[in-house]
Amino acid sequence: MSDRSVPLRILGIDTSCDDTGVGVVELTPGGAARVLANRVWSQTVHAQYGGVMPELASREHVERIDAIMGDALAEADLRVQDLDAVAATSGPGLVGALLVGLMYGKGLAQALNVPFYAAHHLEGHIFAAASEAELNAPYLALVVSGGHTHLFDVPSDGQYVLIGATRDDAAGEAFDKIARLAGLGYPGGPAISEAATRGDPHAVPFKEPLKGQPGFDFSFSGLKTAALLAHRGGASPENLAASFQRAAVNALVNTTVRAAGATGRGTVVVSGGVAANRALREAFGATGLRVVFPGRGLNTDNGAMIALAGAAAIQAGRPASALDGGATAYAPLANA
Ligand code: KG4
Ligand code: ZN
Repeated sequence: MSDRSVPLRILGIDTSCDDTGVGVVELTPGGAARVLANRVWSQTVHAQYGGVMPELASREHVERIDAIMGDALAEADLRVQDLDAVAATSGPGLVGALLVGLMYGKGLAQALNVPFYAAHHLEGHIFAAASEAELNAPYLALVVSGGHTHLFDVPSDGQYVLIGATRDDAAGEAFDKIARLAGLGYPGGPAISEAATRGDPHAVPFKEPLKGQPGFDFSFSGLKTAALLAHRGGASPENLAASFQRAAVNALVNTTVRAAGATGRGTVVVSGGVAANRALREAFGATGLRVVFPGRGLNTDNGAMIALAGAAAIQAGRPASALDGGATAYAPLANA
């Protein structure tokens, strides 16, 4: 590792699913992290199948990663030999897809003789918010994406206690499925958010899932069924979008507020693709909690968030990862 009296440049790679993400972060000697570049290639090949095809995802990552890496370095105005460390996602995700970025990152670190950090995808989502504010435990972290709806208590830096999760669909998955049902297109999150601006949030009486129940879990499959019935009953796509979004946002915000009360945490990090949702941001903004969201372009899967997780590992003095570690499809983040 180079001298800590100068800023470090950390490359981050995420190829966990269908986005090829490469980002660069600068870590100052004082510990502040700044995103210098964030380039994402979102694969379009899967649209025709209505879901992500793992083999195609891996192949596209192989074909694109070198160009995306070149774009990220150009955006950061750096040469490859200016990098001081490399981080890449090792899990969870599609193993074949993960392996592309992981092998690329390890090879690069070895060629440059710089440390390599294997990063957890969810820790990356959480540290995406470090682009906006320094993250110091304790805090709560709500990760809401297409694959995850996880609420963590973070009592000390690097320690994650899972206190709530979805019992069925992930929040983003529900946005995607209801958008498809209403004929609003893919990805569903932005489509629902846009259509909702023209709809009545009270038109369809969705019940808030798990309301009044103890614990901090989430559930979205009931909303999906209710949406199907309302759709068959003639609800317009706009009213369906606005009403579903209101119910989903209320469930996410109310449960998190209850968890903050129970744990005594005053800060909440909200990240993952669904954290881009404007209604969700507004509702969290009205809670009185200190809520930190990732910066623009850092909510959905990207490489800069992995570089930020790498920067946090370096800042915490964590040892670099071994170069013989593998990729894991299922990798819980909670360690307590
Ligand atoms: O974090 P992400 O890119 O991938 C996963 O790790 O899953 O999240 C993608 C998810 C999709 O389900 C997408 O519909 C959702 O995030 N999403 C949104 C918005 N933008 C993306 N959901 C609600 N509102 C949005 N504006
Ligand atoms: Zn993700």
